[in-house]
Amino acid sequence: MPKATVRDIDLCGKKVLMRADFNVPFDENGKITDDTRIKAALPTVNYIMEKAALLILVSHLGRPKGKVVENLRMDPVAERLQELLERKVIKLSDCVGDEVEQAVKNAGEGDVLMLENVRFHPEEEKNDPEFARRLAGIADVFVNDAFGTCHRAHASTEGIAKFLPAVAGFLVLKELEYFEKALENPMRPFVAVLGGAKITGKIEVIENLLNKVESLIIGGGMAYTFLSARGYEVGDSLVESDKLELAKSLMKKADEKGVGFILPVDHIAGDEFSESAGVKTTDGVGIPEGWRGMDIGPRTVEKYIQVLGKAKTVVWNGPLGVCEFARFSAGTRQIAEYLAGLDTTRIIGGGDTAAAVNQFGLSSRFSHVSTGGGASLEFLEGKELPGIAALKNRIS
Ligand code: 3PG
Repeated sequence: MPKATVRDIDLCGKKVLMRADFNVPFDENGKITDDTRIKAALPTVNYIMEKAALLILVSHLGRPKGKVVENLRMDPVAERLQELLERKVIKLSDCVGDEVEQAVKNAGEGDVLMLENVRFHPEEEKNDPEFARRLAGIADVFVNDAFGTCHRAHASTEGIAKFLPAVAGFLVLKELEYFEKALENPMRPFVAVLGGAKITGKIEVIENLLNKVESLIIGGGMAYTFLSARGYEVGDSLVESDKLELAKSLMKKADEKGVGFILPVDHIAGDEFSESAGVKTTDGVGIPEGWRGMDIGPRTVEKYIQVLGKAKTVVWNGPLGVCEFARFSAGTRQIAEYLAGLDTTRIIGGGDTAAAVNQFGLSSRFSHVSTGGGASLEFLEGKELPGIAALKNRIS
């Protein structure tokens, strides 16, 4: 059932509480290094500002574990939003309590308030109903536009929806449209690219995608567990020895379903796990003793490109090599550059993959780059996200 959105509810004269995901990265001087998530909230922020009497923004930042952590206050986010909106954003020093209630009472028509980091209160992550009720108490309508946090059943994402009419913002809507279309009704062939260090955490994604795709391309650290399960020598590469049987059964399932299970055929290997490791390209699939696979090799890039070139829908989650080390990021970059030049549907999962594509300056050339790491992964697992399930259904 489609979810109601900001367009389906009358915001005129209302106080609107909007949950955003302003969990942005910082450098050691407290400067925001990537404001994508703040920019991604702007369409909904602007829409509410135009229609409603008051916009109150709430988000988490980092993992303060229920305590006030000075360098996780929302002030830099409020400042950045203020620059982008070119208007005052009034930052409060808590998200519930007298100061907040008073500020809401004193706010003028069209003001924008930003509450303090909601995870400073332990009740947020516990989804405490009384805390959710207090958050809800300052508004007439709840808008959830925090796609990146929709997989968390927290007070400001799920609990609050029990106390207010709750609808989706434009970012949540856009994310759902891309992922739902890809998973339920994709243009075929549909190919998924999965990378990242470990199989652990990706098992349910692989299981779900095996029912949906024509081919599954596997890269990154987790490829070595699959290669090891196929009997190849992988040197000192990361292998999850407790997952070898599982890896075999996933490959068997792919075989039974006629899904192409594409693994690397050569590698860029390093002699240690470091930025300055010695580097060599292997001749074939095997990796000699004393070396570990750190990136896909040139023949693998060719092989992946052959499969991707025939695809009409591509979903990519997880880097294909150790991208944080420049000398092992070439494989991920080459695949990103190739995909960026296609005109089919290409969706990038959030988190590390989005960060890599962003770092290569290619984000704008994909159909969709998700703002949710964990959230997009859970979506690909086929799970219903609690922050979305809690929203009102659209009455057609
Ligand atoms: C994210 O960065 O993935 C979201 O903001 C959720 O953060 P969390 O993993 O700390 O819940």
